[in-house]
Amino acid sequence: MSKRSLSFICQNCGAASHRWQGKCEACGEWNSLAEEGAPAGPGRKTAKGRLFALEGLAGEAHDAPRLASGVAELDRVTGGGFVRGSVLLMAGDPGIGKSTLLIQATAALARAGHRAVYISGEEAVAQVRLRAERLGLRDAPVELAAETSVEDIIATLSEGKTPRLIVIDSIQTMWTDMVESAPGTVTQVRGSAQALIRYAKRSGAAIILVGHVTKDGQIAGPRVVEHMVDAVLSFEGDGTHQFRILRAVKNRFGPTDEIGVFEMTGAGLAEVATPSELFLSERDLGQPGTAVFAGMEGTRPILVEIQALVAPTSLGTPRRAVVGWDTSRLAMVLAVLEAHCGVKLGGYDVYLNVAGGMRISEPAADLAAAAALVSSLANSPLPADAVYFGEVSLSGAIRPVSHTASRLKESAKLGFARAVLPEAARSEAGDPSLKASHVGSLTTLVADIAALGKPRTAPPKA
Ligand code: TYD
Ligand code: MG
Repeated sequence: MSKRSLSFICQNCGAASHRWQGKCEACGEWNSLAEEGAPAGPGRKTAKGRLFALEGLAGEAHDAPRLASGVAELDRVTGGGFVRGSVLLMAGDPGIGKSTLLIQATAALARAGHRAVYISGEEAVAQVRLRAERLGLRDAPVELAAETSVEDIIATLSEGKTPRLIVIDSIQTMWTDMVESAPGTVTQVRGSAQALIRYAKRSGAAIILVGHVTKDGQIAGPRVVEHMVDAVLSFEGDGTHQFRILRAVKNRFGPTDEIGVFEMTGAGLAEVATPSELFLSERDLGQPGTAVFAGMEGTRPILVEIQALVAPTSLGTPRRAVVGWDTSRLAMVLAVLEAHCGVKLGGYDVYLNVAGGMRISEPAADLAAAAALVSSLANSPLPADAVYFGEVSLSGAIRPVSHTASRLKESAKLGFARAVLPEAARSEAGDPSLKASHVGSLTTLVADIAALGKPRTAPPKA
């Protein structure tokens, strides 16, 4: 028997090490190194390579033929449907609804007459059937199996007509004979993913791999899989809300800034075509500290409420806590308020929350966040029919942002009557039903809000 070279693989990040260590040098995780055999690929030592033909760039390029899933919000995120021969990783917390969404997509494709296969490595066939029954999908001609051996799966699927879509739920439960490690280890997950990706490229089937996410939000174990696949979609949401957001983290065949919005109902995941209505449905009107932000997600405008609480602190170092926005952007907005607008926040705790579990990454939210903060501090509610957008620069100026017209159109559609936006956007076409207040600097905004109400009576001792 040949000598096997052993190595220690971090189960968190996939980094290899020659000896065991308590802490992974690559990712810093403790106690995550496990001994695994090196992949025993065929003919590793002696094989002489096969000759292949090299081609020019000018050759025939087939544009990626896509297959729309029939679930519009899913197609929006993938960029128009599943690409033939591509592999997509769908990552998300357990219980978020990955299996539900994918059985719905598989059933929709099967009903449209395509061969669609659902392989579950986690649930028995009866369990998947039960869910399908609950979702009213029992009549869809989906081909179903509970299997975990990649070789068996590929052998079975290679028989007959090539499936258009194969769902593998989940990649962490799959194992391949080509690798000697136990199922669930990084080496196995990587080996299984590699075999499935090879099969997809060879056969032209589109494959969706389901991947679990660890507590700290990483795709469990195989970060390496993220690099191997064509697209990574992340399915997010928080436990207290019914809605779920699907986001493209990586996409070789489409945009990465579109989001799909779903609502978890008793009958599975329902598509939400007008997310703004949903995000604004539970507003506390007339309360200080809330501002509506007219944001953009990809090509779609989405309105969300930004909530701030500025309260006197009882700690030596005041707290700054943010949910759904960037901590460093909050720090920047606070610094600009202090430095240029005379708003002293050193004696206050500051909390900022984006309502509904949305996560915003646009700098355009600066103005809405600043308005919510000042409104809370001044204890003066902002007008309930106003939306805010604009980027705050370090000098305190309000900088213009893109897609002004779409933001204004969506705001008018949802019944808002005024918009507070950058001075530089004055030339852009607005909506006649919307009154525009252009602000050139954060100082103007602070003065406008302070004029709306009475300041808090007892400021804290410095
Ligand atoms: P599931 O798709 O199994 O999640 P995942 O595959 O990401 O682990 O979804 C599980 C949750 O969804 C579970 O808490 C029950 C809920 N659910 C509904 O609310 N309605 C439904 O119609 C279905 C099928 C599930
Ligand atoms: Mg599942």
